[in-house]
Amino acid sequence: MEVMDILSLGLAILFLLVWWKYWSITGGGKKNLPPGPPGWPLVGNLFQVILQRRPFIYVVRDLRKKYGPIFTMQMGQRTLVIITSSELIHEALVQNGPLFASRPPDSPIRLIFSVGKCAINSAEYGPLWRALRRNFVTELINPTRIKQCSWIRKWAMEYHMKRLENEVSENGFVEVMANCRLTICSILICLCFGAKISEERIKKIESILKDVMLITAPQLPDFLPVLTPLFRSQVKQAKKLRQTQLEYLIPLVRDRKAFVDSNGDPKSSESEMVSPIGAAYVDSLFSLEPPGRKLGEAEIITLVSETIGAGTDTSATALEWALLHLVMNQEIQEKLYKEIVDCVGKNGSISESDVEKLPYLGAIVKETFRRHPPSHFILSHSVTNDTQLGGYNIPSDAYVEFYTAWLTEDPSLWKDPGEFRPERFLTGDGVDVDLTGMRGVKMLPFGAGRRICPAWSLGTLHINLMLAKMVHKFKWIPIPDNPPDPTETFAFTVVMKNPLKAIILPRI
Ligand code: HEM
Repeated sequence: MEVMDILSLGLAILFLLVWWKYWSITGGGKKNLPPGPPGWPLVGNLFQVILQRRPFIYVVRDLRKKYGPIFTMQMGQRTLVIITSSELIHEALVQNGPLFASRPPDSPIRLIFSVGKCAINSAEYGPLWRALRRNFVTELINPTRIKQCSWIRKWAMEYHMKRLENEVSENGFVEVMANCRLTICSILICLCFGAKISEERIKKIESILKDVMLITAPQLPDFLPVLTPLFRSQVKQAKKLRQTQLEYLIPLVRDRKAFVDSNGDPKSSESEMVSPIGAAYVDSLFSLEPPGRKLGEAEIITLVSETIGAGTDTSATALEWALLHLVMNQEIQEKLYKEIVDCVGKNGSISESDVEKLPYLGAIVKETFRRHPPSHFILSHSVTNDTQLGGYNIPSDAYVEFYTAWLTEDPSLWKDPGEFRPERFLTGDGVDVDLTGMRGVKMLPFGAGRRICPAWSLGTLHINLMLAKMVHKFKWIPIPDNPPDPTETFAFTVVMKNPLKAIILPRI
């Protein structure tokens, strides 16, 4: 440790002591916060959690049993209010939507990638967020655009099936997650840039995004910011990664800009550009002028990367869990196959509109979201002004965390919640479930209220369509000596610890 480091540490501890005594929420006396585990001076519950050496969500599961539907954890300088019950989640996100719609501050490393919160997911509730989100929904998610871009999904899925066929003939089995990730990532890249690029470049973009997710995951200085000077190397590493991201994506932005400026002349960019002008998300960002920000290349790359990042892992995770159950339960798979064949025939092709005519498929996907919500918490929220919930104060500088996975495990909401039973969405306790949470909250894979995932319909379409096509074309069976293992682990989403591998047999 250098002298400067020792000095910084000493100053940091001094600052913490003063902060704890005079300004901290939990240290400075009673403030009618929700109850919570007693913490240590200065660091609160932070090291109690770290020392348990198990995923945070297991800690929260145990605390919920002890402290009930709303509780506080003091993680260093960060105050977390954790909300777990259906009633309180509905009250906060839906009934008091605007009040609970903001986001807490970003860590210094996250700020590098969000260029100072210029991203839909991290912007505070206000004019910038509104303009970015409105543009995203109008340009990417509206039904006309979804229809206009359906050829992208058709192209990507034909390629997906060929890749699966090659992989099974080479290895004797296929890896589900890696293939689904790649295909969804290629769809989102094409939706964003209007470009068909090589598999090698898609893989590079995917791997940069993965590195960004890893480096932006919470680290010690996020909870004890005074320790930031001791983590200079991480910040340096993050800046280097951001540079790589920019260097890799700027050429795509410039090629698209040249294509748009030349009125769609394919020669303008030796063109990989395949979507007509206006059909790519990035086209709208060239001319967007949100209040208080100018969108340069760095901001555009942040906005496009958030779209690709937010949509890839979430959807691929759901597909892997769905296929796990179809591999383990051939009866469910055959029932789905029969539904598909009854709709389009053995040799037919499933279109996007066919998907809406397949209720059992919809039930399987909903049951997958229930039994394996891709994220166990939605993103961190914060309140726009100090307020109250469940009789407790919620201060505006607290991180408000909604532990939505508990809803799907709650035996008072679901019969045999641990069982995978798609039928519950056709005739059982899932029939009336509203995935947007507006009419009440029983499961919330996409959040609810103002910050609900703006692409939930697109994400669901990708999953439904890919699952239907994969089951229509192949019978999925376990590898005899290597059966699937449903153990979970925690990456950006909650994924299978041992990624699913399966044998596929052509149906025709
Ligand atoms: C199965 C697929 C998906 C799941 C489970 C999912 C889930 C979520 C969740 C839980 C949130 C946070 C909501 C909150 O904080 O209240 C979110 C936000 C978001 N998602 Fe998704 N998502 C999916 C697909 C997608 C796709 C395909 C895209 C882009 C094309 C996308 C873009 C976003 C964005 C931009 C936000 C931030 C919204 C805001 O802060 O206003 N998501 N998503």
